[in-house]
Amino acid sequence: MKLKFKILALNIAALFIMLTILGPIIIKISDNYNLSNILNYLKSQGDNSTIYVEQYILSKAGNIFEVPNIMESDSSYLCSYLNKNIKCRVQIFYGNKLLGDSEDITDSNKTIRPEVSETFKGNKAYIITKNKTRTLYYATPVNIDGRYNYSLAFIYDLSDADNMKRNNINMFIVTGLLAAFFSVVFSNFISDRIISPIKNLTETAKLFSKGDLHQKVEVKSNDEVGELGENFNSMADSLRNMIHELKDEKEKQKNFFDNFTHEIRTPLTTILGYSELLWKTDSIEVKDKSLFHITSEGKRMLNMVERLLELSRLKRYDFQINKSETNLKALLEEVCDSIHYKLGRYNISLNLKLQDLSAFIDPDLFKQVIINILDNSIKYSDTSKIDITLEDKDGIELTIKDYGTGIDPDTLENIFEPYYKGDKSRNSSIEGWGLGLSIVKEIIDKHGARIELVSHKGEGTQVIIRL
Ligand SMILES: Nc1ncnc2c1ncn2[C@@H]1O[C@H](COP(=O)(O)OP(=O)(O)OP(=O)(O)O)[C@@H](O)[C@H]1O
Ligand SMILES: [Mg+2]
Repeated sequence: MKLKFKILALNIAALFIMLTILGPIIIKISDNYNLSNILNYLKSQGDNSTIYVEQYILSKAGNIFEVPNIMESDSSYLCSYLNKNIKCRVQIFYGNKLLGDSEDITDSNKTIRPEVSETFKGNKAYIITKNKTRTLYYATPVNIDGRYNYSLAFIYDLSDADNMKRNNINMFIVTGLLAAFFSVVFSNFISDRIISPIKNLTETAKLFSKGDLHQKVEVKSNDEVGELGENFNSMADSLRNMIHELKDEKEKQKNFFDNFTHEIRTPLTTILGYSELLWKTDSIEVKDKSLFHITSEGKRMLNMVERLLELSRLKRYDFQINKSETNLKALLEEVCDSIHYKLGRYNISLNLKLQDLSAFIDPDLFKQVIINILDNSIKYSDTSKIDITLEDKDGIELTIKDYGTGIDPDTLENIFEPYYKGDKSRNSSIEGWGLGLSIVKEIIDKHGARIELVSHKGEGTQVIIRL
């Protein structure tokens, strides 16, 4: 069953239950109230009439023994008189015998009515009968001088009360129908408001499942459905990002594979070329040259494979780093000392401004970071000086700055990708695999630190590491 019809059915059912339970109860309460008012009226009129009849008879009777005769002769008059005041049929009984009646109707039923026979015991009594309409029979005993017992009976036509009851029932039916009508209209309105965002959500989810990932749910309501829509949108956002990242990762893997095969091709071709030459030549000189090239290309390849292994090892999620409290100043000085000779060869001066700071790092891996960065500045920048600064700026900040050629923005964007090399290393004889900064980035990430490369063409490059 559709949600809309469920809401509608629920409303109608609630209304139906309310009307079928409340309706009869209210009608019954109102009818009972009406009847008890009439009964109270008859009781008080009955009491007054009893006094009136007693006084009337006693005032007319010369002595007490004349009472039966006077009652016999004046009962009809008394009934008519009382009828005018009370506005209902009045009868006077002496035992089973009807002495007077305000109406000239002979009852077909000759048996004495139960409420009248109850007065013989000195009780007041009433019954309600129902024919086409209801009738209230009320009777009260009239005792004259403790000697003569008469019954005063009132027959009250309840057709007004019946009409009122019928009107109430009709009113409930009309109200019920009207309420049902408005309930349908209202439910329709409400269910449309509830369902339209759900429909929207379903449509979007369908399109989403068909691969249209740019769909968004229009969330307007401030309720659970709105919340669902918001959650759907954020789920869709995460999914989009994940897919984007996956595509990115796939692209990176492809590039990595392409670059790897490209890189490996050159030394392999060289090795194969010289190997073939070895077979063909008898010249010692050529053989020596071939063997030299085969060995050096082989070494180069081994170096690349080692760097690649290093990168792959670092990328493993379970790779453990051995951190210890390390004096960074001492570590930097040690590294600089080790490349002293190389710097001299390139005519580069080193400018150290180091604060005495320590950090909880893996010293061996950190040395690799600094060596790789310095190696790049030496190889690619054509700089004549390198500044190394270590200072505490709301955290430890290490800056390695050269004043060389700089890196163009395109290269800078992808610089941490494996095998990504700038123009210089691609086109010149400078050897490089494009793996150094990928390794650096992995090590820095493993330390939970951050690395930033700021470079402007012709001005130089600054590598900033924040610990
Ligand atoms: N200080 C720098 N000045 C100019 N270019 C730089 C500098 N540092 C890096 N580059 C450029 O960034 C590229 C990537 O450097 P990365 O260290 O990752 O690889 P690589 O030096 O080419 O190879 P590897 O480090 O594996 O030997 C380099 O090829 C170079 O073009
Ligand atoms: Mg490098």
